[in-house]
Amino acid sequence: MITQITRFSFPTQIVFGPGSIKELPQEFAALGASKPLIVTDSAMVKTAAFASILQVLENNDIPYEVFSGVQPNPHDIDVEQGVASYAAAGCDLIVGVGGGSPMDAAKALAVLVGQGGAIEDYDAQSASPEPITGPLPPIVMIPTTAGTGSEVGKCAVITSTAQGRKIFICNPLMMPSRAVLDPELTVSLPPHLTAATGMDALTHNIESLTAPLFHPMCDAVAMKGIELAVNYLSRAVEHPEDIEARGYMMLSAMMGAVAFQKDLGAAHSLSHALSAVCGLQHGLANAIVLPFVMDFNKTVCAKEYALIAREFGVPIHTMNEAEAAEAAVAKIRELNAKIGIPAALGAVGVTAQQLAEISSKAFRDPCHLTNARSCTHEDLEGLLKQAL
Ligand SMILES: [Fe+2]
Repeated sequence: MITQITRFSFPTQIVFGPGSIKELPQEFAALGASKPLIVTDSAMVKTAAFASILQVLENNDIPYEVFSGVQPNPHDIDVEQGVASYAAAGCDLIVGVGGGSPMDAAKALAVLVGQGGAIEDYDAQSASPEPITGPLPPIVMIPTTAGTGSEVGKCAVITSTAQGRKIFICNPLMMPSRAVLDPELTVSLPPHLTAATGMDALTHNIESLTAPLFHPMCDAVAMKGIELAVNYLSRAVEHPEDIEARGYMMLSAMMGAVAFQKDLGAAHSLSHALSAVCGLQHGLANAIVLPFVMDFNKTVCAKEYALIAREFGVPIHTMNEAEAAEAAVAKIRELNAKIGIPAALGAVGVTAQQLAEISSKAFRDPCHLTNARSCTHEDLEGLLKQAL
């Protein structure tokens, strides 16, 4: 029965297609901005993809400033330096270029530019975070991977240097005004990163679809995002120059992040802890634990898993729902094997001695609170033991 009032919001305009970075000048003009601060990292600035973005700006006589000091896990000091660059160069627009880290830094930077203060003031987990009321400078995102979906999200995760912990800052005003998805920027991503980031996208879609919350729009978006990843991820891994596969994976990633407005699940709690304790790449950790979490969940979301099996081409009309759900789990394992993802955590250096710390951190992570099947600390520890 429908008993609650719900708000649905998908505000970011998306410009998609090969060569879509050529649209940047008109998008900047539409936002009333004339000088962007380009927020990125030190590896990105050396790439041909980054040069192609700057070329568009130079061809159109658009002045810009580059801030490339974002660390792989963005820190508050990175953001503060970015704010100083923004002010010194007289910028009026923030453009995040790269993967999740530069894009998260760009969003946090917009908050500090718009409202001042320090990152810790806006800590969503503190007792009384400073409210984000805006106005914030416009944000344009140009992702160069297909995974995180940060280009359409409302949150930034920034590490506090003093406290040594991650701070979440979340507000709808942090949603970018534009996301420019140009698949040509992703063709040089190596196969192992295409696989890991792509599985992050697929995990977002699957965990959102099965999160026990009312959001039929997100459910529909997640289902299409799953279809695209199922059909195009291994193709993008095997044929890096395949623009169609790259494009559809960018869409799957973006849709996964739109869908997880609804929320995520236990795979993300485990992967956040695995990254914190063992330094595992986020997408790789998700990819390894996902089939174990799905196996744990399959009794409570067999209907949704049956739909996933159907996307893989499983003849679900010949089976009952439980069999179809089981087939979905098997297909995820097959996909992992096909794209070179190890089947177990032990293969990527995780040890039995680390499991207690990982499960404690995973239990403190809020993502599992919206897992399809509710899980205890012991359940998470059990999943890790299986996955080891
Ligand atoms: Fe993720």
